[in-house]
Amino acid sequence: MCGIVGYIGDEQAAPILLNGLTKLEYRGYDSAGIAVFDGSEIRMEKVSGRLQRLKEATDNGKALPGMVGIGHTRWATHGCPSDTNAHPHFNKEHSIIVVHNGIIENFTKLKLHLENRGYQFVSETDTEVLAHLLDYYYKRTRNPLAALTKVMQKVEGSYALGILFRDHPDSIYSARKDSPLIVGQSERGNFIASDVPAILQYTREVFYMENEEIAVLTRDDIKFYNVDEEPVEKTATHIEWDVNAAEKGGYEHFLLKEIYEQPRAIRDTVNPRIKDGQIEIEELQMTDEEIKGIDKIMIVACGSAYHTGVMAKYVFEGMARVPVEVDLASEYRYRDPIFGRNTLVIVVSQSGETADSLAALRESQAHGQKVLGIVNVVGSSIAREADSVMYTWAGPEISVATTKAYSAQLAAFYLLALKFGRVRKTISDSDYEAYISDLQKLPEQMEEILKDRQPIQRFANRYLAAEHIFFIGRGIDYAISLEGSLKLKEISYIHSEAYAAGELKHGTISLIEDGTLVVAVATQEKLYPKTVSNIVEVKTRGAFVMALTNEDNKDIEKVSDFTFYIPKTNRYFAGSLAVLPLQLFAYYVSLGRGLDVDKPRNLAKSVTVE
Ligand code: M6R
Repeated sequence: MCGIVGYIGDEQAAPILLNGLTKLEYRGYDSAGIAVFDGSEIRMEKVSGRLQRLKEATDNGKALPGMVGIGHTRWATHGCPSDTNAHPHFNKEHSIIVVHNGIIENFTKLKLHLENRGYQFVSETDTEVLAHLLDYYYKRTRNPLAALTKVMQKVEGSYALGILFRDHPDSIYSARKDSPLIVGQSERGNFIASDVPAILQYTREVFYMENEEIAVLTRDDIKFYNVDEEPVEKTATHIEWDVNAAEKGGYEHFLLKEIYEQPRAIRDTVNPRIKDGQIEIEELQMTDEEIKGIDKIMIVACGSAYHTGVMAKYVFEGMARVPVEVDLASEYRYRDPIFGRNTLVIVVSQSGETADSLAALRESQAHGQKVLGIVNVVGSSIAREADSVMYTWAGPEISVATTKAYSAQLAAFYLLALKFGRVRKTISDSDYEAYISDLQKLPEQMEEILKDRQPIQRFANRYLAAEHIFFIGRGIDYAISLEGSLKLKEISYIHSEAYAAGELKHGTISLIEDGTLVVAVATQEKLYPKTVSNIVEVKTRGAFVMALTNEDNKDIEKVSDFTFYIPKTNRYFAGSLAVLPLQLFAYYVSLGRGLDVDKPRNLAKSVTVE
């Protein structure tokens, strides 16, 4: 979703803004703009399309001199991507300039109110009301902070804001509610940004803004206020991770780099939580008695994070014998869920900022439920608002299509299920030991798969022109199919569906014709013969079958056209290995079709609107 960067300090602002926006490109956008205070006027440039166009239009920022500025990449919600709808937005005199991430839900009402008072609008955006509303209150108060708090009281919806007032050339004003915003502090000036990578090159000292907080930045100082204009004390967080973690490190794409980082992500997520052969998850903050008392787990998430929940249901129910419900956050938040007497709600999110997942968390808490967050981005909203948080130590994930965060989320679920199984005595001591040993072997087995990616690349190149691709599997293999299919469609734009293999014959099999590619995942021993039967069913109808299984099942070659073998592990963890060839397949199809692998069209890394 939209990205915001702001800078005030000793350096020229425009190059810093452009650089920061480049680091936020992964969030997804369709237009971009910057505004810089040149000493007497605020000058602005905004364009639809890629940041490169903005760089060209501003001679890499040189055309907009000045040491105070704000920038924005826009992911269109209200109004098509265009130069006019691009941010920044401004009042009539160009004396108040605003960049915004989020949605102003009551903008129609506010717009009417302003139009009745003579304000004229030039764009179709919801954001423009903010510029005029700020103008309205600023003209009455002559005080930017008072005007901003008034606006915050009037608007409904979500916002992260960067604002310049021409009358106050030595300050940037900012505020947030339900959209991410951080403030960075350095010797050479201060920053606002939607995310850490935008400013990591300049500072590691970061303040995470809470809902309805305001920050006023000057060259040497940062002051925080609440919506009543009372000062707020905040402590900076030191960012530990390396700037290289957010760079491509020699890989052609972030996606490929992140696929290859998965063994490391699993090690970092798992190893610190295994001590003397026992799983210890301190962050869980639950006694053994409380774990024994849990009568239901509800997992809520979106997209790939939801798919980890689908997988976790099999793992938890199998290992710990606790009933698990898995919900899409966008459905859960409005379905009036029924909680048990001792329900544990788990919200899973890479970014920790997904609007629907955050709303689901709040909805659960409003019903008195305790929420455990499984989150990758440290300090994100879900991490801060959850009652307890278990971090996945995947490191910064830049590519829009998730890979390493997905795998780390699965690993977090394995740890939790094993811990629950142990405490609830639903797995034996010997199984517990064997599972832990398998879990620690996973990174090595992943490395083995990733050693040779050529067979998958060659296979993918045969399917660049496919129109439909189906993924089938049963149980955990179905959960993996869901993820394989999503990976493929989001970056290759090929229509794809994942089906529980046994369900195909209830309708979807009519879509199978000569040459249709069906990817069959068959890692589950107990279900293997059943899946093979389903493979035969699609083969009979002309499908071309790619099978994914382990070396014990060589006979699958009799019914498939291409087989990829994964190393053997136990039934619960096989998905973590099977997903790698599927990620690589999606990557190479996208690459072969000449698409933007890391920034697929219409998508955003962090979906901060409903
Ligand atoms: O940041 P989150 O994990 O909450 O994001 C959830 C989904 O938006 C995300 O997994 C999305 O489906 C990915 N682009 C899939 O690769």
